[in-house]
Amino acid sequence: MRLTLFAVLSLAGAAPVQTAKVNFVRDVKPILENNCVRCHGPDAAMRGIRLDRKERALMTVIPRKPDDSLLYNIAKIGAMPPGPKKLSPAELESLRQWIAQGARWPNGVELVGKNPFVTGVAAPAETRRR
Ligand code: HEC
Repeated sequence: MRLTLFAVLSLAGAAPVQTAKVNFVRDVKPILENNCVRCHGPDAAMRGIRLDRKERALMTVIPRKPDDSLLYNIAKIGAMPPGPKKLSPAELESLRQWIAQGARWPNGVELVGKNPFVTGVAAPAETRRR
């Protein structure tokens, strides 16, 4: 049901992120920082996976092939992040588009894990910093 509604919204052009070129820092970094990096970063690299550094994170990605990419699939099936709060359809779509467009990650950009339960201001802070 949610997916169907999402598809309709996309067709209506109500979700500009669908067609726009994905910007890693603007569109993807916050998703990973808010949902993944606290368990896949320098302090806790669960399963040896780190998503805070380009070289490590891209080991879970096959550029231009989101459906073959562990990073995308594990979020899509709802296995990650663990717990009740999963990525939204829009967030999943941003990840998919990012990978489909080549999974560009500017050199030197490092991610910092955030705990969404205590910040609540992650998105505005992100916008300000740019
Ligand atoms: C609360 C901590 C936590 C968060 C948040 C989290 N992970 Fe994980 N992740 C784990 C643990 C623990 C494992 C190992 C699970 C296992 O072995 O069954 C894991 C395993 C993985 C794996 C390896 C799976 C495999 O089959 O080898 C990937 C890829 C992954 N996570 C990606 C992500 C992504 C992407 C996000 C954010 C959307 C995320 N994780 C968020 C704790 C977390």
